[in-house]
Amino acid sequence: MKRSILITGGAGFIGSHVVRLFVTKYPDYHIINLDKLTYAGNLANLKDIEDAPNYTFVRADICDFDTVCSLFEQYAIDGVIHLAAESHVDRSIKDPFTFARTNVLGTLSLLQAAKHHWNGNWQGKRFYHISTDEVYGALQFDGSLFHETTKYDPHSPYSASKASSDHFVRAFHDTYGMPALVTNCSNNYGPYQFPEKLIPLFINNIRHGKPLPVYGKGENVRDWLYVVDHARAIDTIFHNGKDGETYNIGGFNEWKNIDIVKVLIKTVDRLLGNAPGTSDHLITYVTDRPGHDLRYAIDSTKLKTELGWEPSLQFEEGIEKTVRWYLDHHEWMDNITSGEYEKYYDDMYKNR
Ligand code: NAD
Ligand code: DAU
Repeated sequence: MKRSILITGGAGFIGSHVVRLFVTKYPDYHIINLDKLTYAGNLANLKDIEDAPNYTFVRADICDFDTVCSLFEQYAIDGVIHLAAESHVDRSIKDPFTFARTNVLGTLSLLQAAKHHWNGNWQGKRFYHISTDEVYGALQFDGSLFHETTKYDPHSPYSASKASSDHFVRAFHDTYGMPALVTNCSNNYGPYQFPEKLIPLFINNIRHGKPLPVYGKGENVRDWLYVVDHARAIDTIFHNGKDGETYNIGGFNEWKNIDIVKVLIKTVDRLLGNAPGTSDHLITYVTDRPGHDLRYAIDSTKLKTELGWEPSLQFEEGIEKTVRWYLDHHEWMDNITSGEYEKYYDDMYKNR
């Protein structure tokens, strides 16, 4: 095998797309997917590649330093793509400790293990940390954008924990010379997203005629990127990015929440054969998320100019594909909402 790459959080939403891309595109790389399988991890996301000869799944916690060190040793890891995290803002408001533990201490555990194993021999090594645009705080409705140089100003426990992990990665680069880089991406959408996040939750609720809880007035703006385009960006940056750099990744695709909700209603109703307007009454304005960031918008010009990446899908096309995917794969969703999916690991791996 040419390379041995540890991908963390590969059973989650974005991680599963990254694992799939690397396993299929690089048959001469050994891809080791390290995932704890929290409520957000689902091995059904990787069913199509689970038997690939260049793929290994390991159930472990990134905070378990001894296990992480032994994996570096056992698989002679030379590259890390780190996605494992607690990722949902609403959960971080209720349980910030879990976010500090996984996102901060877990990242530190991986960095220490990499430093220990690579032992100053940085040749051919790379630690790539996946982060979020939420570390930059919130923008007003003034056309401004987040740049790589924008000052960090996190507001939620989630974004504070991600900001802290970003600082640790940069500290390992600056202090020890570790070949490391960070990317900050905007909101992703697409297949396999856990249905606590806006788009899959609302598609599923429309399907079942359940209320759509819009926070506040639905005026908040997010910049949406199709998840496969994020995975493509990660591939480009892992191979061609420069150590010590930060790259912003975004879709140049700003939408008010309420407008997204209307697009989802229209698309789901059309694809289910319902008359236009059937599900409009499901929109339900609820109490706003505390500390709710008003607007995110990413400037990813640097990534386009320096590495040639840009989104491949227009939003209209991406959202149509996404809604179709969730409707066509309703068993995937039903397995999650029924809790069945959490048994998948036991059934598949316990007796091997
Ligand atoms: P997700 O919640 O869908 O998946 C997270 C994965 O990490 C799960 O498989 C979970 O089991 C695993 N995990 C959690 N704690 C772990 C631990 N202690 N040890 C090992 N594995 C653990 O998340 P996602 O939306 O795919 O996000 C992936 C990464 O991308 C995160 O770092 C997130 O901050 C970042 N990000 C997400 C978005 C987005 O829109 N979803 C945008 C920008 C950046
Ligand atoms: O910007 C990148 C971030 O995008 C990632 O770092 C996070 O991991 C990811 O979860 C996402 O964070 P958001 O908080 O923007 O995503 P969420 O899907 O939770 O919410 C999107 C918007 O929709 C936000 O303004 C809150 C609103 N919302 C969300 C839910 C779940 C609602 O109005 N109602 C809801 O029920």
